[in-house]
Amino acid sequence: MDIDLLNSELPNPDRPIWTPPEGPPRTDRIPPAVYEAMGEAGLMALARDFYGRLGRSEIAHLFPRDPAALEAASAKTGAMFVFLCGGPPLYQQRHGPPMMRARHLPFRIDEAARAAWLRCLRDATDDAQARGAFPSEHRAAFDAFFEAFSAWMVNTADPA
Ligand code: HEM
Repeated sequence: MDIDLLNSELPNPDRPIWTPPEGPPRTDRIPPAVYEAMGEAGLMALARDFYGRLGRSEIAHLFPRDPAALEAASAKTGAMFVFLCGGPPLYQQRHGPPMMRARHLPFRIDEAARAAWLRCLRDATDDAQARGAFPSEHRAAFDAFFEAFSAWMVNTADPA
C-alpha cells in the first residue's frame, strides 16, 4: 500500500499491546470507480448504516452510545471511506494524519472484535448493493481491502 495510513504507535498504552506478526498489510487499493459511482454522499450513507449496525452489535460497547456522537463517529469513518475509495483526502483535511493503528490503540480490538466489525460492514454493503447504491463489479476489491486492512487494527491478543 502506498498511502501512509499505517505508521505510529502511541506511547504508554494502559495494557499490553499485541502487534500482528505479519506486519502492516500489503493490499491493492480500492478502485477509484467506487468513489466515482457513490460520491461523498453515498459513502457517508454507507458509513452511517454501518455505524448503526456497530451500535447494535456485540462490539457496541466500543462505540458512542449517544446517537449524535455515533453519527459524528460514522462521519469520520465515512471521510476515510471517501479517501480509501479514490476520492479526496477528506479524513486528512478534517482530522489530520490518519495514523489508523495508533488511533485504534485506546480500544481493545481482538480477532473477535475485528470479525464483528467486518460483519457489520459486509451487511451494510450488502444492503447498499441490493439497492443499487454500491457498484457490484467492485465489491470483491472493496471486501479484500477491508479484510486485509482491518488485520492491522488488531491490538489485543485472543485469550489464551
Ligand atoms: C478491526 C476492526 C475495527 C474495529 C473494532 C474498530 C473500532 C473503532 C473504534 C472503537 C473507534 C472509535 C470510535 C469511533 O470514532 O468510531 C474507531 C475509530 C475509527 N476507525 Fe475503526 N475499527 C476497526 C477497523 C477500522 C478500519 C479497517 C478502518 C478503515 C476505514 C477504520 C476507520 C476508523 C476511523 C477513520 C476512526 C476515527 C479515528 C479518529 O479520528 O479518532 N477502523 N474504530
